Amino acid sequence: MKTLLITRPIADPVIAQARTLFDVTVNEDGALDVAQAAQALADYDAILPTLGDQFTDQAFESAAEKLRCGMLGNFGVGYNHIDTVAAKAAGVQVSNTPDVLTDATADIGMTLLLATARRAGEGERMLRSGEWGGFGPKDLLGTHVTGKTVGIVGMGRIGQAVARRCHFGFGMDVVFYNRSAKEVGFPARQLASLGTVMEQADFVVVTTPGGAETTKLIDAVALEAMKPTGIFINISRGEVVDETALITALQTGQIAGAGLDVYEAEPHVPEALRELDNCVLLPHLGSATVETRQAMGQMALDNIIAWSNGDAPPQAV
Ligand code: GLV
Repeated sequence: MKTLLITRPIADPVIAQARTLFDVTVNEDGALDVAQAAQALADYDAILPTLGDQFTDQAFESAAEKLRCGMLGNFGVGYNHIDTVAAKAAGVQVSNTPDVLTDATADIGMTLLLATARRAGEGERMLRSGEWGGFGPKDLLGTHVTGKTVGIVGMGRIGQAVARRCHFGFGMDVVFYNRSAKEVGFPARQLASLGTVMEQADFVVVTTPGGAETTKLIDAVALEAMKPTGIFINISRGEVVDETALITALQTGQIAGAGLDVYEAEPHVPEALRELDNCVLLPHLGSATVETRQAMGQMALDNIIAWSNGDAPPQAV
């Protein structure tokens, strides 16, 4: 029987199925650092890793000739924690879990957009602290959403799902920035530059992949282009945004608010950000529904099974 390391506890039925096919170890001790990732590459035939596990260039280098692993069936659509170039060079296949988390992640984008626009975090904090004095015609006034313009940065699967929700559900105009030309089947205008999207949008929603090509794509200059009433949402990867520049923009009132699900150095969230009332901060909940997390586990396992049978993993990256 091939050995399989599942790096975090996932849905029970998926683990149960895995146990019928592999000699399974489930790591209960949190994300693997580089040394632990290197050790796992040396110890197991296949690994089902997830966000936070450090399958870096250095991990592959440290495993080197001790490498035993042939497959990383990642739990998650984003795989910026895996150096795919190093994996390929080492002959390790990598797969991810697209599609199954698109709706759940787009829903978190909308949760953040609405919660930030309507100051739901502030309101909840006020109520819980016993400071609510009753309905006030001028209290906690937020920003209207219907009819406003949303700017999507990265019009992939999740970007389109957010855009559809905004257009069909909230009567918003959609503009977007995408590296390549993109036709979508609903009204949405692709603009020539990121700066123009940042400038025109009332709400900017970032839905690009992470990784070297998008690191700090949203920098101080991009944030400066936003309207002072603009609200910034990030549901992609923390590294896509210059967090320090974002904090400054929020502190100085250069933009009106932010809704974030992801951070540069998760789980570290800068104190300066946590102190700000004009942002809603979630602990990376994009795909966190029972149904979605089960489907992600199943897809990750199915890819490992395909690899084990000598077939091409269907979601190979
Ligand atoms: C979550 O962020 C994922 O990439 O699946």
